[in-house]
Formats: sequence, C-alpha cells, structure tokens
Amino acid sequence: MKVPMLDLSEQYQSLKAEVIKALDEVMSSSSFILGKNVKKLEQDVASFSNASYGVGVANGSDALHISLQACGVGPGDEVITTTFSFFATAGAIARAGAKPVFVDIDPVTFNIDPKQIEQAITNNTKAIIPVHLYGQAADMDPILEIAKKHQLHVVDDAAQAIGAEYKGRKVGELGDTTCFSFFPTKNLGAYGDGGMIVTSDAELAEKMSIIRVHGSKPKYYHHVLGYNSRLDELQAAVLNIKFPLLSQWSELRREKAANYTRLLNEKLSEHVVTPKEEENRYHVFHQYTIRVEKRDELQQFLKENGVASMVYYPVPLHLQPVFAELGYKEGDFPIAEKTAKEALSLPMFPELKQEQQEYVIDVIEKFFA
Ligand SMILES: Cc1ncc(COP(=O)(O)O)c(C=O)c1O
Repeated sequence: MKVPMLDLSEQYQSLKAEVIKALDEVMSSSSFILGKNVKKLEQDVASFSNASYGVGVANGSDALHISLQACGVGPGDEVITTTFSFFATAGAIARAGAKPVFVDIDPVTFNIDPKQIEQAITNNTKAIIPVHLYGQAADMDPILEIAKKHQLHVVDDAAQAIGAEYKGRKVGELGDTTCFSFFPTKNLGAYGDGGMIVTSDAELAEKMSIIRVHGSKPKYYHHVLGYNSRLDELQAAVLNIKFPLLSQWSELRREKAANYTRLLNEKLSEHVVTPKEEENRYHVFHQYTIRVEKRDELQQFLKENGVASMVYYPVPLHLQPVFAELGYKEGDFPIAEKTAKEALSLPMFPELKQEQQEYVIDVIEKFFA
C-alpha cells in the first residue's frame, strides 16, 4: 500500500465541474485583479473568523510582512516570535527591516511558551508573532496580556490554522491582525499561492489594502512604499468554492487525528508521544505531528514501506544560517532543538482512509518490534 502525505486529487475530482465553471467565468469576464471573487472571499473569511475586514494578498508570507508594516514595524525594531516555525514567520520580520527575537516553545503544544516572552522584551520591541503551529492555537490570553502591558502589536501567524479556536474565540479575533495562507497544501488551499489578512481595526485594514497596491491611494499617488501583493481572481474563485466545505474538512481532519491517537496510544505508547489538544481549543490538524525516538530511522523505514512523512521543521529558526549574525547558538532554546530532532508529521488530509491509517500504524509497529 502507498500512503501519501496528502492527496489533493480526490478533492479536485469532486469539485472539478464547479471549479472549471468558476474559472471560465473569471476568464470570460476579463476581471482578473481585485474583482468580485476576492471581495466575496474577503467578506466570508473575515466573518467566519469573527473579524470585520479581510485583505486578500499574494501569499501568507506577504500577509505577515504587510501586517508588520501596517503596524509601523521597521528598521531598529524587534519582533518576538517562536523559534519553531516555518521560515516565513521570521523572514517576514527581517524583510520588514526589523530584528527577529526568538523564544522557546511549550513541549506539549509546539507553540511559543508565553512564560518566556517577557524576558525577551526590550525598549525596541514592537510586536509579537505567535504562530498557531500545526493547526492548534497558541496560548493567547497571556500573550495578549503581555502585549497590552507593554503596548505591543500582536500579529497572528495562522497560516496553518484557519478555523482553529481558542477558548471559544476564533483564530482571527485574537491579535491585531491574523494572517492566513492559501498555499495548495493548506487546510483551505488554492491552486497556486494566495493569502489573507483579517482584522477588526479599520485603520490597519485601510493601511494594508493600500500597501498591497504599491502604497497607492488614490491610484497613482503614493504616500507609503508598498508592494504588488494581491490575491488574484482565479485563486479567489477556486477558494470561494472550497470555503463552504472548510468546516466539514476540519471535522474530518479531527476524526483522522483522533483515530491515529487512539491507535498509537493503544499500540505504541512506549515509543510515540501523540499530539495533545489543549483544553478549550479547537485544533484543525493541519498536521498530525508525533514525537518519536529514532525519528530519522523511522522516517526511512516508513518510506521503504510506501508511507510518506515529513519533518516540520528540522532546524529551529535561531540556528538558520541566514540568521547567524543575530548571534544565537545551539543550546539557546533546548525544547525547540529537541523537538526538531523528534517531530514527525504523518499523512493527514480529509480523504485519508481508515485502512491507510491502520497501515501507517502497522509499519510503525513493525519498526519498533
Ligand atoms: C507557519 C507558516 N507561516 C507562514 C507561511 C507562509 O505562507 P505562504 O507559503 O502562503 O507564503 C506558512 C506556509 O507556508 C507557514 O506554515
């Protein structure tokens, strides 16, 4: 049997007729940039996330960068974030001209440890970027409290967490802005790159919508330096078809996750630590990530037996060569460093079959036998 990390083909087959019709409508209308499809998606994603405004942008990385710029973050400023994330989180800080300041993670949730944030604050700190990694919200109440106390902006990196909830609140209504990615493999994936920022702050929404069009308002008059970073109509048309299915897909992901957890805890609890959904969270399981001993050997064994798996992420951000000049060294963030050696994400997508999950577990059992 072969089990891929994710398989988008079944989903496409079920939506093909609608998708082709919607793409044809866009192309026949010749309205490709910031038209009615982007507007509809902005309204729907904002309202789904309990936010007032949506700003469609070219990708999740730009969503972070544009958010930071709109919050006034620039050269000389520091932005605190987790060292255990995809590169884009820290890349956006550096691209805004600011300095990333890293913090270690909570070993259970893989998310930034709020207890370590305050000691990282200096006079130059302007913002915090919590990342809702793998689809589970970071512990936001203490983060929002620290931000309020020190007058810092909070930009949520929710690239992996559309639809997630924290204590009854949606990811999207927590920080000043929340950034989503529509990269094809994400829970709500386009057929190319795409992203969105949501916010309930009218001033930030206005600034971000100006920054995405070269800082132009009115057209051809430029008071700020912006970029060309827009979600396009073709991608928005696809996403408008997929969006109504998102909640049902999240539920299916949660069912698959519960199934993995049950099987792993029954058969492999000595060797594998299963991911834990914290109390009062709604985890949308963008990834199902275990901690496991002999991770690299297990990954190789899975591969030899037809099972895909991924290491998100093998190198914490403070040890990335591009950030060498920040002066971090091995040992600075022991929990993230240990996690980078133990984390393994197993196949996860709404259409994953019971037999496939059982096969994955069988192969892991064989490895440890
Ligand atoms: C945590 C995180 N932040 C940011 C991004 C960047 O999103 P994008 O690939 O749409 O630029 C991603 C996804 O790739 C991500 O996983």
